[in-house]
Amino acid sequence: MRNTRRIIVVANRLPVRRSAKGAILKWESSSGGLVTALKSVLQHTRGAWIGWTGTSGVTPRRFMHDHIWIQPVPVKKREVEYYYNGLSNKTLWPLYHDAICAPQFNRRWWKPYHTVNQRFADYVSRVVRKGDTVWIHDYHLQLVPQMLRALRPDLRIGFFLHIPFPPDELFEWLPWRSDILDGLLGADLVGFQTLGGAQNFARAARKYTVAKGAGHSLRYERRSIRVGSFPISIDAAWWSQRSDRPEIRKRAREIRDRVGRDRKILLAVDRLDYTKGIVERLQAFEELLSTGKASVHDCVLMQLAVPTRETVGDYAQLRSTVEQMVGQINGEFSVPGRVAVHYFRRNHTREELTAFYRAADIMLVTPLRDGMNLVAKEFIACRTESDGVLVLSQFAGAAKELAEAILVNPRDTDGMVSAFRKGLSMNPAEVRRRMKALQRQVHDHNVYTWADSFLKVLRR
Ligand code: ADP
Ligand code: G6P
Repeated sequence: MRNTRRIIVVANRLPVRRSAKGAILKWESSSGGLVTALKSVLQHTRGAWIGWTGTSGVTPRRFMHDHIWIQPVPVKKREVEYYYNGLSNKTLWPLYHDAICAPQFNRRWWKPYHTVNQRFADYVSRVVRKGDTVWIHDYHLQLVPQMLRALRPDLRIGFFLHIPFPPDELFEWLPWRSDILDGLLGADLVGFQTLGGAQNFARAARKYTVAKGAGHSLRYERRSIRVGSFPISIDAAWWSQRSDRPEIRKRAREIRDRVGRDRKILLAVDRLDYTKGIVERLQAFEELLSTGKASVHDCVLMQLAVPTRETVGDYAQLRSTVEQMVGQINGEFSVPGRVAVHYFRRNHTREELTAFYRAADIMLVTPLRDGMNLVAKEFIACRTESDGVLVLSQFAGAAKELAEAILVNPRDTDGMVSAFRKGLSMNPAEVRRRMKALQRQVHDHNVYTWADSFLKVLRR
């Protein structure tokens, strides 16, 4: 990062979260693509991160973590239920992801969402200094740009949405659609993962607010607002270097030895979220085995799943469905020493993840809808021998950039089975050609070029 001016990142989730194990409170790393990306950026620039600790207990004062200044914002117990679990994760998250699960619209959740957004804006206005750039992130904080502008009209304010911005047929369901748009239009620059997201937003802004204009620029209340797509990425050099370390190579060999050197490893790594298409992937893997197109002697599926949002009903339901399916597939197909599906429901360290990425033959990234999907890019960066096949959903933002992956429709079980087979039998020259092209993309467009390109437009 060449920028030397301070960046104030504002996001619901801090890079560390407070967790209670019995009576003991401790800090652990947060998971998810937003934290992965922004942590890399802030570690290489001066700045601070304003966000929530993940619990409603006593809020600590500002502190330093991994070279980043952390400013916690308090969120009360009732607000966690209404602002975070409710409006953010039962309304906006499913609505913005194609309504894969039915979004819930509850009037009682709106006021707490508004209140917490106002609190974030108040904290930012107190922390920010002249010349700082404020960069607000994601669907939890869509009202903050306008609220902050009212408090500090002197600031340059950027907003980036990490998840898809839905088409009008879905967005119009939202009872608070104009408030959300007015909130976002408080920014000088509003960024999205894809061109489609940017276009959906601009169309909605023209329809439900007084905004005018076309293309990448809107006029709104005598200000000009830039709208654009900025596909997020990873610290590709970090993942590649880490993957080449002797201890990671050794760990990758151990993983391979444990499952059997003669078997190909299909790997999947996700938050345990219904947008990730885990059920559809397990169905396709079952079909691969039941139709005899592959057997437990040829291959194994390893599913790594981080627990997430466990107090929201749809997530609890997903967990039980996934665990039932894993049990059923293993009951049906495993033989002694040859388990069909290895399922790990826990947070892994980045080192351990790197070893899994390195050990795999085929990476399955098959979400039903995803803003970007950084797992796909992490896998590519870890394949320093330019081997390994990526099977990628056409509904992940990453599919727009990673055209050399095997692209699939995760709801098409036959298509998924063919893609798995294609991955299992692809000749090494083609594997290498495709992987090299994918690596060029991920190294040329990394998280630093992403942040640079956004900040350059914002500060113009
Ligand atoms: P999302 O933002 O929806 O969580 P992404 O694929 O963009 O999806 O980002 C997920 C991030 O979480 C990645 O950086 C990945 O390394 C990390 N992650 C996923 N699964 C695990 C796991 N089991 N343990 C630790 N980190 C994980
Ligand atoms: C996605 C969202 C992030 C969120 C992350 C983890 O990446 O875009 O805003 O932080 O999921 O979810 P959580 O609810 O634990 O913050």
